[in-house]
Amino acid sequence: MNIQKVMVIGAGQMGSGIAQVHAMAGINVVLHDIKEEYVQKGMTSITKNLARQVEKGRLGETEKLEILERIEGSTDLGNARDVQLVIEAAIENIKVKSSIFAELDQITPPTTILATNTSSLPITEIAASTNRPEKVIGMHFMNPVPVMKLVEIIRGLATGDEVYETIRALSHRLGKTPVEVNDFPGFVSNRILMPMINEAIFTVYEGVAEPEAIDEVMKLGMNHPMGPLTLADFIGLDTCLYIMETLHEGFGDDKYRPCPLLKKYVKAGWLGKKSGRGFYKYI
Ligand code: CAA
Repeated sequence: MNIQKVMVIGAGQMGSGIAQVHAMAGINVVLHDIKEEYVQKGMTSITKNLARQVEKGRLGETEKLEILERIEGSTDLGNARDVQLVIEAAIENIKVKSSIFAELDQITPPTTILATNTSSLPITEIAASTNRPEKVIGMHFMNPVPVMKLVEIIRGLATGDEVYETIRALSHRLGKTPVEVNDFPGFVSNRILMPMINEAIFTVYEGVAEPEAIDEVMKLGMNHPMGPLTLADFIGLDTCLYIMETLHEGFGDDKYRPCPLLKKYVKAGWLGKKSGRGFYKYI
């Protein structure tokens, strides 16, 4: 299937990045969120990102305007009725996602592919809330979306081969490298990344070293672009906790137990960069 128009649900950090890369690849985008102010915030972030590309001489001013023209805002899910693909990047909550997918199943033509950018929730369970599980797939982008090359493509139990091929081809069209994985908690990316971040938090909790020292070890010793605690702040500590809980619930193994310090920070509202404080301060 040739994708010409997509709807992206959720205009936050991930959703706006996903909308941007599609518009840059010449695809028309409906950027949807529940409130107009969220849509506007997403549009502002895309505009700023593109302006930076213009400043660096990688994009012309006219090209920037053409990309922005390809993105329309929406607060009405009914606008999904003429898209070939929906990519859902709403909050990480199975009930919310399942209810969005059930609604999309009613609104969109039966041929529309319904993808989710979930970072760890079961694709098969989300698919079960629709009457088209063969058209449901995981399309997991990494943050920051315009920079990171990976798209983790997750097949649910019923995902059709044709749907997988369409999403694989689309990922290439976006300039990304798709990698196919199966539907298990955390998939591959977060099954491996989050226990490392959680272990870094245990290292702070147990007083092994200061956050700066832990990040320095991993940056200079392992060549990671960001230390695990800086990365946790960047991803959002609430998201990190949610993913650890999904892994712990899904596998039951103690090695996935979220660190008590992570839980404490989230309870305190220390969510990382977005709240101004996490393992570091951002004001
Ligand atoms: N949006 C768009 N572009 C951005 C950006 C953003 N938020 N942040 C940085 N960039 C761009 C910069 O403009 C710069 O572009 P050019 O090289 O073209 O000039 C480039 O990225 C490098 O940026 P900086 O020089 O400012 O900083 P850096 O070299 O430290 O790179 C980084 C920043 C790319 C974020 C790098 O630190 C990095 O790769 N960090 C790790 C990111 C990572 O692991 N992401 C995955 C998180 S897990 C996830 O997303 C999945 C999940 O389910 C939780």
